[in-house]
Amino acid sequence: MTKPAALQTTFDPPADSVLWRKDFLIGVATAAYQIEGASEEDGRLPSIWDTFSAIPGKVLHGDTGAVACDHYHRWEEDVELISGLNVDAYRLSIAWPRVMHADGSVNEKGIAFYRQLLARLRAKGLKTFVTLYHWDLPQHLEDRGGWINRETAFRFAEYADLVSRELKGLVDAWSTLNEPWCSAMHGYGTGHHAPGKTDNKLALQAMHHLLLGHGLAMRALRRNDPTSLKGLVANVGRGTTDGDTPADLRAAELFEIQNNDWVLDPLLKQRYPAGLFELWPGTEPEVQPGDMEIIGEPMDYLGINYYFRTNVRSDGAHGYTEMPLEGVERTQMGWEVYPDGLRDLLLGFHRNYANLPPIYITENGTASDDAVVNGEVNDAQRISFLNRHLAAVDEAVKAGVKVRGYFIWSLMDNFEWAFGYERRFGIVHVDYSTQKRTLKRSAHLVRDFLAKRRAQPD
Ligand code: FCB
Repeated sequence: MTKPAALQTTFDPPADSVLWRKDFLIGVATAAYQIEGASEEDGRLPSIWDTFSAIPGKVLHGDTGAVACDHYHRWEEDVELISGLNVDAYRLSIAWPRVMHADGSVNEKGIAFYRQLLARLRAKGLKTFVTLYHWDLPQHLEDRGGWINRETAFRFAEYADLVSRELKGLVDAWSTLNEPWCSAMHGYGTGHHAPGKTDNKLALQAMHHLLLGHGLAMRALRRNDPTSLKGLVANVGRGTTDGDTPADLRAAELFEIQNNDWVLDPLLKQRYPAGLFELWPGTEPEVQPGDMEIIGEPMDYLGINYYFRTNVRSDGAHGYTEMPLEGVERTQMGWEVYPDGLRDLLLGFHRNYANLPPIYITENGTASDDAVVNGEVNDAQRISFLNRHLAAVDEAVKAGVKVRGYFIWSLMDNFEWAFGYERRFGIVHVDYSTQKRTLKRSAHLVRDFLAKRRAQPD
């Protein structure tokens, strides 16, 4: 059902685009479980994703992250790859189960891996954006309740404390959590992600503990590494309606409250949005005195991940139903390509949050069924997608939103969670049988653009 738009196959931003500014960071992103493999090496402990992906039926084709892109062994080659793209920055995540033993002490071998990786990236002149939690909770913490257990927030702060003491000076920007909405909602509500629970009330409680862990971690990071940037990465979704009744309009609002405000309001307004409990009555989490102040710890930046828009209508009661639009362009994920959604959300956050910190788009990109043909990968849909979303960012910047950079998801094809290796998000193709990396056409174009930008006088 993909309706091809007029595909733009060059990458040539207009002269007045923010993209030409050398201080507008362009980077590529990955996450530990999705690329590293080596899941049992050098004392790495099992994570909830090792457990979850081993359960038949949870991940497409039974794929797991046991080998992934074998980045743990090929990191030197991968740093060369990143550096060769002429990007300014690389966003990666640290695997908690790799660097911390179950008793809370440091796993020297695990931390040494990240120390050498970060040092090499910095030596290449790349800025390092490091996420502490991109969904790979140590299984031993899940065995004690995972994010449903308030204690996990404190264990996370200890982990942040340890890592920031060990890696101080090698990180330009820390992010505590990647997409707490996905951890809470897919981990505990829909059950699509590890640990696979299906109860919205648990999702609300998990979210509260994730955010509490974020606030506590922010304090540890600030103490240990005062000069780096610190923040959190949130996924956001645009919700609109093709209906015209007041109930349909409210349904679209509720969609965004559930997808965006649930995370951003506690961080930036120190409260949960009332609409959330209109949607899901009786799901209020247990909150202890002082929690909301911890959660509202000021951030130096906010990371925004954006992928698509969802069309909804009223469900006739107090909620919304998703009603996929016909005849729109979709990606290999089935997600609608809707660049205006990114601009509109950015403008909305700018209006809604007086204390909105500077923003980095920490993920944006698309999956396509890419194959190497005669040594080349022609990913025309991705090139068009990136062009149009970057134009949307430029529009938001021109309207006054402080966006400081943009990271393409992803550097290379990788383990796409419940969809395994079938969905290819990389600007670099990975042949999983040989681990050969091949630059897709999008990667060539981004690289050439950045070379041109670099060559311009300051
Ligand atoms: C985001 C995740 C990232 C990747 C993209 C496609 O939700 O943060 O790891 O899977 O989606």
